Amino acid sequence: NKGHYEHYMQKEIHEQPESLTTTMRGRLIHRGSSKSKSVLLGGLKDHLKTIRRSRRIVFIGCGTSYNAALAARPILEELSGIPVTMEIASDLLDREGPIYREDTAVFVSQSGETADTLLALEYALDNGALCVGITNTVGSAIARNTHCGVHINAGAEIGVASTKAYTSQIVVMVMLALAIGGDTISNQTRREAIIDGLFDLPNKVREVLKLDQVMKELAKLLIAEQSLLVFGRGYNYATALEGALKVKEVALMHSEGILAGEMKHGPLALVDENLPIVVIATRDACFSKQQSVIQQLHARKGRLIVMCSKGDAATVCPNEYCRVIEVPEDVDCLQPVINVVPLQLLAYHLTVLRGFNVDQPRNLAKSVTTQ
Ligand code: UD1
Ligand code: M6R
Repeated sequence: NKGHYEHYMQKEIHEQPESLTTTMRGRLIHRGSSKSKSVLLGGLKDHLKTIRRSRRIVFIGCGTSYNAALAARPILEELSGIPVTMEIASDLLDREGPIYREDTAVFVSQSGETADTLLALEYALDNGALCVGITNTVGSAIARNTHCGVHINAGAEIGVASTKAYTSQIVVMVMLALAIGGDTISNQTRREAIIDGLFDLPNKVREVLKLDQVMKELAKLLIAEQSLLVFGRGYNYATALEGALKVKEVALMHSEGILAGEMKHGPLALVDENLPIVVIATRDACFSKQQSVIQQLHARKGRLIVMCSKGDAATVCPNEYCRVIEVPEDVDCLQPVINVVPLQLLAYHLTVLRGFNVDQPRNLAKSVTTQ
């Protein structure tokens, strides 16, 4: 049921304040007057000790689910102190990469039925790793075959393009980082800021959704383009990959997410006055580096669209031709949840304007159950 929406993708983008609320329901604890805040993931509580003892945490997934894990990687490394590595499921299988008994392998999948992710799970089970699932589908193969896990509870996702599952996956993995990290005096302020941020996240997402018209206008400008680059780094490297994936998958426009730190190692050669480039430059530890990326792209006459924190337009824009997407600011590790929303809206509007099928992009299936 699409309600008053024209497409499932549109509905699922706009219901993110609600889906994020259900993802967090019952899992964020505000302990009375002591103001002590914590996270409770029922499916993991008996396994946290084992996870904390593991030598490495390895995230395994495909497509958007992989991108969600990439977005959560920095906070998991920071709070747990455990090395975190990333595997695209098919690539792990192609290489028969090393997975050990001392590893915690985390399988991220909206459907819980993706063939490559499922085969990678069998492989990790054979190798004796602790296998944790992060899925949206109760009773799915990945939920059943993992040792433990967390349901993201985002509600059924119908559109082939994953939108609300992505933001709920990130939130669950941030909660996972808080749960594994545990309470120490030294990280208490940081933990409280993140938990406060989680409580307020649905409101921030509601706010960023007001950019719908702005993104539609931007889509009109880009309708006839052949290609769109998206530059991000740090917490928002994943946002760049995910934004580009959405644009190529539904709008059928070539798009590439680029790690801004790699700019001079090749991508800079593409820059001219015609190719549109989105640069994500919201406030975090990478902000000044992104400002210098903007300057360098501007020096090559790049056609810039800058995503920045509210109030930063004048600071980040090199000239009057630069387009701006101003988004609400959040704690660094939650900012990817905010920043992906305008890119989801852009992909949606581009698709409708270009006249393509939004919910069933050509050649794609919602759940990839064959290799
Ligand atoms: C569970 C109930 C929820 C109830 C809550 C109350 C289910 C599905 N969830 O939620 O309805 O409101 O208790 O306390 O009945 N699991 C895996 N792999 C996965 C995902 C989950 O093994 O990929 C396992 C978990 O380890 C857990 C079980 O499935 O044993 C349920 O997980 P989850 O729904 O996340 O647990 P709760 O949030 O505690
Ligand atoms: O169900 P899964 O999360 O395992 O699916 C993984 C990918 O097939 C999926 O995210 C795909 O990339 C989406 N169509 C992206 O929008």
